[in-house]
Amino acid sequence: MDKIHVIYGSTTGMTEAVAAKIADALGAKVFNVNADDAVAFDAELLVLGSSTWGIGDLQDDWAARLDHVKDSFASKKVAVFGLGDSQGFADSFCVAAETIANAAKDAGATLVGEVLKLDDTNESDKTDEKVAAWVQTVKSAV
Ligand SMILES: Cc1cc2nc3c(=O)[nH]c(=O)nc-3n(C[C@H](O)[C@H](O)[C@H](O)COP(=O)(O)O)c2cc1C
Repeated sequence: MDKIHVIYGSTTGMTEAVAAKIADALGAKVFNVNADDAVAFDAELLVLGSSTWGIGDLQDDWAARLDHVKDSFASKKVAVFGLGDSQGFADSFCVAAETIANAAKDAGATLVGEVLKLDDTNESDKTDEKVAAWVQTVKSAV
């Protein structure tokens, strides 16, 4: 089994871009959740990323898949990151990432690190620094 897979859902490509950075920093393979690839969820540590849409909703591909894949989180380590807009959606900022983290916890996963919440819409200059610090925490768990 691979050590780490990064799996993302992304509508306009912002979460996809961050997923690529995280995968690069972790030396991990990266998967789009919409590829419906069972292999994606077969790793010791799953790094799951989603943007938030609607008002606090999962990104569409995660919305379609989460119920089907959450059982595969059991006994895995899971780290979660999300992208959102903290100014336009202050009350529902990155809620989708929390939803995925809660689903993983409920399925029996061990959560690694804090849920990383990024606002590439308003604070893209902070993303690289936040990702670098978070990746260190995630690395220390494997
Ligand atoms: C119609 C619409 C609804 C959104 N709803 C939320 C929201 O509830 N919470 C949040 O944090 N961001 C929200 N966002 C911001 C997106 O999550 C943000 O633009 C994100 O970076 C998109 O990432 P993606 O391209 O990977 O899908 C919304 C954006 C749009 C256009």
